[in-house]
Amino acid sequence: MALENRKIGYDEVVTRDLHFPMNTGNVARHWFNNDPWTTHWMNAILAAVPDGERWVMNSARRQLEKLADPEVRRAALEFIRQERIHAREHDEMNAVGVQHGVPINKVEGVFKLIRKQLQHRLSDDMQSSIAAAFEHFTAIISSVLLEHPELFDDTHPELRAMLYWHFVEETEHKSVSFDVFVDASGGGLRSYRLRTSGMLLAIALGFPIMIGNQTYLLYKDRQVFNLRSAAHMAKVLFFRPGILSKVLGGVFPYFSPTFHPWDDDNRAVIRVWKRAYEQTGDPQKAFKALRNRRPTKQHAEAPPTLTVEPAWGQA
Ligand SMILES: [Fe+2]
Ligand SMILES: [Fe+2]
Repeated sequence: MALENRKIGYDEVVTRDLHFPMNTGNVARHWFNNDPWTTHWMNAILAAVPDGERWVMNSARRQLEKLADPEVRRAALEFIRQERIHAREHDEMNAVGVQHGVPINKVEGVFKLIRKQLQHRLSDDMQSSIAAAFEHFTAIISSVLLEHPELFDDTHPELRAMLYWHFVEETEHKSVSFDVFVDASGGGLRSYRLRTSGMLLAIALGFPIMIGNQTYLLYKDRQVFNLRSAAHMAKVLFFRPGILSKVLGGVFPYFSPTFHPWDDDNRAVIRVWKRAYEQTGDPQKAFKALRNRRPTKQHAEAPPTLTVEPAWGQA
């Protein structure tokens, strides 16, 4: 079920062992849009990234022996390598938030407790299904932000380079967890039931955690009553570009029996970044190439227009 186009994008998955030194100089207290609510919405999600990445890696690793398809297995190994490095870099970013006095470690601790319980109680196939659902959400957020790099004009170049390297690699491997799940769980009706149950569990787990984390971080940052910031966040999440609206809209197609993550083929946008990175070896320049790309409505048809500027500082 939904396996006929699963090989799309496998040749895109490349591990880049990049390190982005993070400190209070390049991770501002309100690093996203210079805005507390929007930043803490992102922090609420990013707090769970290191442990969440290790969970999905571990889940894929536990399925390796069951994978019948060597290509899926090879992609899974590359996926594991990518996620291990993402977790390392986000650990460093989150630690800087803590240095700012934002208790990201506390909300991460709550996520870890829940994750340990689920890991202990759920089957490998169900954990694999939840991993596929989380990766679907990650892919949608990455897709929206890849189309809107202008949202990061006020973010430090080192930090946005790190985030966009991650968004690109999340897009590269966006079908891998899904394909691992389907291959390991055998496909058919059983897989479909597990897949939809995993999505419902991911929603039941993810959305309350996201809202709870953000509320706590805003409270600790004394920003709960910053209504101007709340209005800005509402615009970004629900209207322009509507990150959360698109995440919510992406839930429904997932319940189609024929759904596959590459139904939304957005390789053109990541190829802009990849080409610039291959030419320069510099993720900051690769971000800039993306920033200078002509905006398109149909990203699958987007011509990969490359403009790499030689210097930084003039966003
Ligand atoms: Fe990742
Ligand atoms: Fe991922």
